[in-house]
Amino acid sequence: MRVGVLGTGNMADALGTRWAAAGHEVLFGGRSPERSRALAGRAGGLPGTLGEAARFGDAVLLALPHHALAGVLAGLGAGEGALRGRVLIDCTNAVGPGLLLTTGTGPGAARTLARTTGAGVVKAFNHLPDAVWRLDPFTAATAEGPLAVPLCGDDEAALETVRTLVRALGHVPLTLGGLERADQLEAATALLIGLWKSGHDPRTLLPPFEVVTAGDRAGRRGR
Ligand SMILES: NC(=O)c1ccc[n+]([C@@H]2O[C@H](COP(=O)([O-])OP(=O)(O)OC[C@H]3O[C@@H](n4cnc5c(N)ncnc54)[C@H](OP(=O)(O)O)[C@@H]3O)[C@@H](O)[C@H]2O)c1
Repeated sequence: MRVGVLGTGNMADALGTRWAAAGHEVLFGGRSPERSRALAGRAGGLPGTLGEAARFGDAVLLALPHHALAGVLAGLGAGEGALRGRVLIDCTNAVGPGLLLTTGTGPGAARTLARTTGAGVVKAFNHLPDAVWRLDPFTAATAEGPLAVPLCGDDEAALETVRTLVRALGHVPLTLGGLERADQLEAATALLIGLWKSGHDPRTLLPPFEVVTAGDRAGRRGR
């Protein structure tokens, strides 16, 4: 498929390079022509502007800082419906000082994006660092097998497009539900970032699945 990538930084590089290597046509759009050309050259994609990336292809990855989104999207005419019906992949983390979500207690980033653009927004790829997305799937795999990549979205066709892009990385898509669940994914990611930054392995919080679900299997109610 054709994928437009907005941004030429870490996430654009990590995901766009892997998708190009998997045979997808990727256009890297940035505000700096030099950086788009350099990344496209390295990744085997096409260079372009932010506008060209937004108009290119079947899906658009927003690999921009969350705080820059509103301005960039306004410049692309999102307020006038320029992105209506497009597949927008939101990998942003709106995490600010104190590792708190800058979206506060209101709707999360993905829900606001869907409301303001009318696009088929899918929250995906935000829960792990770019270094993981650069790895081959065998190195990134867990003891249980390939990585499950959580996706949230309200538009089934958009979700299916992103599932294809997850499989292109060698991972397995895990659809969590609609964009209300994206709020939880965004909050959970902020929690993970906090644990990683303070040197704690989040896996130490979690006993094996069989242990956690033992009560359910015994027919106990509630949790
Ligand atoms: N890196 C990670 O491990 C990771 C993991 C999961 C999710 N994320 C999320 O992914 C998004 C991108 O992260 P990143 O690490 O790739 O960031 P990054 O390396 O800093 O790259 C950000 C990109 O956005 C561009 N940009 C910044 N402000 C802009 C503006 N006002 N107008 C136009 N372009 C602008 C930058 O352009 P210039 O190069 O011209 O400055 C750069 O191309 C963020 O929302 C982040 O929270 C990151």
